[in-house]
Amino acid sequence: MKLKIALFGLLTAAIAIPALAQKAPEAPGGKYAKEAEQMFRSSFRTDNPKYWMSRLDQDDTMKTCGTYRDNPPRKVGEQIEKANRTTIRYPVDGKLIGDWKEGEKLAAVGTGGHIGFIQPDPAGRVRGGNCYACHELAKKELAYGTIGPSLHNFSKLRGTSDDIIKYAYDKIYNSNAFSACTNMPRFGLLNWLTPEQITHIVAFLVDPESPVNKD
Ligand code: HEC
Repeated sequence: MKLKIALFGLLTAAIAIPALAQKAPEAPGGKYAKEAEQMFRSSFRTDNPKYWMSRLDQDDTMKTCGTYRDNPPRKVGEQIEKANRTTIRYPVDGKLIGDWKEGEKLAAVGTGGHIGFIQPDPAGRVRGGNCYACHELAKKELAYGTIGPSLHNFSKLRGTSDDIIKYAYDKIYNSNAFSACTNMPRFGLLNWLTPEQITHIVAFLVDPESPVNKD
């Protein structure tokens, strides 16, 4: 019995002492963060295209979101959204709604941007929006992710006003303009999709004839 108590005491001490010794988390940009980033960067093969490595550089939005673990105080979040709103660019002809059939294809394509691991993208491969990875859109596509909300019946529920069209365009162009540290990629800002391609995806969401709005 005594032995058991002694062992229990030892065990508690073994757990308690390191817990007491634990320091406050390191401030962002500190030694360990730098070491972790170095390790992360060196894990990529060096025979990838040079431009690819620039994708590891974080802009101010990403750094600030990282500092606050994607949950910044409201005021900081508003600043991030404001800064991202100023980045949005529109097609030269000013038309924000394109061809839903083109948009349907782009929303479903999950290729593009692959780097050398097994095989990089062949030249000229179309980049897609990969929207189904995170959203439900047209009902006929059964495989979709649920990180983002369902976009099925987008315009049936919200209408087809100019404001909704602009919102859909802006959201796809730079998602962080509306929710500071969202998981949704900034397709326009990062030149992943062209403004014209975005107008096609907007049509896929908003056009009453699109399968998003027809079951
Ligand atoms: C990696 C996941 C991811 C991908 C890929 C993604 N989204 Fe999102 N999306 C989200 C998340 C999470 C939200 C909800 C948070 C927010 O509003 O940013 C969202 C929100 C939205 C909204 C706003 C919904 C609302 O209720 O107002 C729209 C519109 C949208 N996404 C469209 C798209 C389109 C179109 C694509 C493809 C070009 C796409 N998303 C790709 C994650 C993603």
